Amino acid sequence: MEKTKVGIIGLGTVGAGVARLLLDHGDRTARHAGRVLWLEKAVVRDLKKARDCELPSGILTDNVDDVINNPDIEVVAQLIGGIEPARTIMLKLLKAGKDVVTANKALLAEHGAEIFDAARELGRSVAFEASVAGGIPIIANIGQCLSANQVTSLHGILNGTSNFILSKMQDGDDYNTAVAEAQRLGYAEADPTMDVDGTDAAQKLSILAHLAFGARAQWKDIPRTGIDKLQVADVEYASEMGYKIKLLAVADLVDDGLELHVSPTLLKAGSPMAEVNGPFNAVRVDADAVGRLMFYGPGAGQMPTASAVVADMIDTAVGRTKLTFQTLELWSNRPARVSPADY
Ligand code: NAP
Ligand code: HSE
Repeated sequence: MEKTKVGIIGLGTVGAGVARLLLDHGDRTARHAGRVLWLEKAVVRDLKKARDCELPSGILTDNVDDVINNPDIEVVAQLIGGIEPARTIMLKLLKAGKDVVTANKALLAEHGAEIFDAARELGRSVAFEASVAGGIPIIANIGQCLSANQVTSLHGILNGTSNFILSKMQDGDDYNTAVAEAQRLGYAEADPTMDVDGTDAAQKLSILAHLAFGARAQWKDIPRTGIDKLQVADVEYASEMGYKIKLLAVADLVDDGLELHVSPTLLKAGSPMAEVNGPFNAVRVDADAVGRLMFYGPGAGQMPTASAVVADMIDTAVGRTKLTFQTLELWSNRPARVSPADY
């Protein structure tokens, strides 16, 4: 069977999950791609660190050039977080002729236009299903499956860590214990402040707004409040009144543009969004032709996120990059039409 040689940059929570799927379940990728995705190199910072996956010898390296300058590697999963060096590495990979898959929403929310423009000019693709809502295939659904619709509203629980913390507080755990548990389980960002202050949800909302509305919403312009000021007593009072508190990311199409915000919101207990617990995410989409859709599933964590990354790697290896190029057009050509909600 034919091989597509692939690389991974970053072998932390997500990267290790990707390596495990590629190495332990090559039969699945072969079945869907009609070819083997062959893991050639995996790049880390610290070669001595214990890894959550077993690698054959010769794969691990601490030199990113081993991937960038390897002409045999065609597809790279770029799985280090933050802006730099992730941005520079991403651009170098594209210039070196690699197609890239990433879970890094912070990078796309901040530098998406530059990265997608570079990919288009160089005839390469950047796939990013794992960047929003972990294992839920929300990018493909909004960017591709709903393309006959005008989306009118999108409400989501987009940060698994915040939702996990709120669920733990609902069970009586204190805030700091719940944050530490989310970090231990690999749901949180390297800097969990991004999860709890609403930044991560705003970055994901800006990506979904690009796809759903063709709007260039800068994540920093989205009004946001996180869960970091909430106390167990707030969650308990809400519960006594018959409500749950959820960190909701909202984009509503209104007459003069798009209203966007991220904030803790009281939801009636028993309603579908209120009952999304733990590291799970949910996205409710209203669109003119199809009506209302609800997407639900694990929004953070190793294997759910790896599931989305490897699916993108398979799609990239077989050339199913149509969605990406539609997205590039949106990202590059649509004017901004954003008026953040005054709330
Ligand atoms: P992580 O556990 O912190 O892993 C990051 C990896 O990147 C580590 O292996 C680290 O190497 C490596 N790395 C960092 N800087 C590097 C550099 N300069 N050169 C080479 N390697 C470098 O992060 P993660 O949780 O896997 O998240 C990765 C990305 O996926 C982030 O953008 C995150 O937002 C996104 N994401 C995460 C989840 C999740 O549930 N965790 C879900 C969806 C999306 P060392 O191990 O040697 O330090
Ligand atoms: N830290 C993120 C979250 C990871 O908790 O949602 C998934 O993007």
